[in-house]
Amino acid sequence: MDGNGRWAKKRFMPRVAGHAQGVERVRDIVEACIQRGVEYLTLFAFSSENWRRPEEEVSRLMELFVMALEREVTRMHRNGVCLRVVGDLGRFDARLRELIAQGEARTKENKRLTLTVCANYGGRWDILNAVNNWRRDNPDATTVPISEDALAPYLTMPYAPEPDLFIRTGGEQRISNFLLWQLAYSELYFTDTLWPDFDAEALDLAIASYRKRERRFGRTSEQLLER
Ligand code: FPP
Repeated sequence: MDGNGRWAKKRFMPRVAGHAQGVERVRDIVEACIQRGVEYLTLFAFSSENWRRPEEEVSRLMELFVMALEREVTRMHRNGVCLRVVGDLGRFDARLRELIAQGEARTKENKRLTLTVCANYGGRWDILNAVNNWRRDNPDATTVPISEDALAPYLTMPYAPEPDLFIRTGGEQRISNFLLWQLAYSELYFTDTLWPDFDAEALDLAIASYRKRERRFGRTSEQLLER
């Protein structure tokens, strides 16, 4: 969800005003995804590297997360959204962690859309964390190579399929340490639209672009026709 700062700057507003508008967009896009039958939506809200931002911005972002959880969980629950928050959550303060746990517990049986929010998340962290946890559970397997299938359940989102479509707003064309393992075969879509302007129409453009792609997973086009 890139471009909040620039959206605010263009309007001579502080960067945090862009993040606040970004939260509004999260609500709209969650609802648009439900209407379109999307079953899994994963948002990169705060990367492990975002702690490097000015202290004031980081603390306002934390306040926004708290407010969003306080205000939105009831609506999510009503809409059949199952909320999951993944990342190294230990660095967040107790109030935020408590709200996350409550929100997850309240919505855990919901099936319409699984909304995963990645917070203090990094793709490399996810992979290393999985390897370390696998080793903890397999202390005697010091010389056995780890297989993909053995590692996958230890990643932070074993409950979700790998993403079909990755969307990055705000004009950058990078993955920036998002779901490095899980994005191996995802279609990548980059748009100059800033996140606070990313509405249902912009989402439809991304989905239309995805529909035109041919996903071969290493096979040839001819093989796909035979299947
Ligand atoms: C990147 O834009 C955005 C962030 C670091 C924060 C994203 C957070 C939200 C949209 C709000 C909360 C989300 C949830 C799920 C409650 P940027 O600040 O890097 O923008 P810039 O590239 O224009 O500077």
